[in-house]
Amino acid sequence: MAILVTGGLGYIGSHTVVELINNNFEVVIVDDLSNSEKFILNNIEEITGKRPIFYPFDLKRKELLNQVFDAHNIEGCINFAAFKAVGESQEKPVDYYENNLFSLINILQEFKARKISNFIFSSSCTVYGQADEMPIDENTPLKMPESVYGKTKQMGEEILKDFAQAYQSKICLLRYFNPIGAHPSSLLGELPIGVPNNLVPYVMQTAAGIREKLSVWGNDYPTEDGTAVRDYIYVVDLAKAHVAALKSLINKNTEETVIDIYNLGTGKGSSVLEVVQAFESANNVAVPYKICDRREGDITIAYANADKAEKELKWKSETSLEEALKTVWEWQKYLESRKN
Ligand code: NAD
Ligand code: WQD
Repeated sequence: MAILVTGGLGYIGSHTVVELINNNFEVVIVDDLSNSEKFILNNIEEITGKRPIFYPFDLKRKELLNQVFDAHNIEGCINFAAFKAVGESQEKPVDYYENNLFSLINILQEFKARKISNFIFSSSCTVYGQADEMPIDENTPLKMPESVYGKTKQMGEEILKDFAQAYQSKICLLRYFNPIGAHPSSLLGELPIGVPNNLVPYVMQTAAGIREKLSVWGNDYPTEDGTAVRDYIYVVDLAKAHVAALKSLINKNTEETVIDIYNLGTGKGSSVLEVVQAFESANNVAVPYKICDRREGDITIAYANADKAEKELKWKSETSLEEALKTVWEWQKYLESRKN
């Protein structure tokens, strides 16, 4: 039996593949390398001593996906593959809807035809928009996200709920808060292709001198230091949550519909300036920054109540912000060493 991991060479996917292998799962990766690189496969092998099966193709190619399901006894899927740049999604809405939703639907067609269950979906805290109360638990009302990217996540969730209901299938929606950090081996991390949109990769590149200054988007928010607050979760902790969620789904040996939903965060909010300071003190480097206007579409504050995952999956975030930010700096050094 094998687990299909789509987007398994990407940032969160590659860390999860390592944890799956460590837990003796057989992994089959499909990734078209649209936002990742092939060397990550070698690095997964270096960390785990096992090379996962890898198919480099676009999930929109139904006929190739069909062959993967013919070739392997797939008992579940973790679907990471998606385009994820919020700004770009506004410029290329059709491409985002096509990539993120057609990929999902193509996998579900295979699941339906072969009566496979156990589907885990990478969702996002973006489905809550600016929640009225903190922390955000799974019963917090959803708001239609402003970005096309966010809409693909909310639509993906709806498609999966309908799928589970119609075919008595077992699905799990994992709503990540803000994943950060790299593998302790420094062999896996977030590959910043082009100018980073997200805070931590930008901080990393500023500290390394690749970017001159970090732009802090707004210091007039109604928060303690005026900068926006998020819940930064260490990627290896996040990866472990996927293994826990998968085992839980598989163990629910039922013919009935299962729709599990979990928030994955630390439960603690950190402001932009707190992240900058934590990076500086963890790594003993300077991160020059300037205060700029707010970024359009940004919310003020979001942090999770992750008690449900702790209670039901026996999972909780274990790594501090400083520890996670240390791994980011080690990853930057590794990326530099690869250039030489
Ligand atoms: P990533 O871009 O690093 O990984 C996604 C991988 O999927 C890439 O390797 C890419 O090449 C691949 N891919 C994309 N479209 C594909 C297609 N059509 N066929 C085959 N492969 C395809 O992103 P990530 O940060 O690892 O995110 C993984 C998932 O988690 C995504 O669904 C993302 O939306 C979601 N998510 C990410 C964050 C975050 O901040 N990183 C937060 C919440 C949710
Ligand atoms: C964090 C904070 C910025 C960059 C996005 C997606 C969301 C989810 C996670 C996938 C904000 C500030 C950032 C910079 C800054 N992804 N910032 N200068 O906006 O919480 O969420 O990624 O699902 O859907 O919207 O994360 O890392 O972009 O920003 O001041 O150069 O850092 O304003 O307050 P965000 P982020």
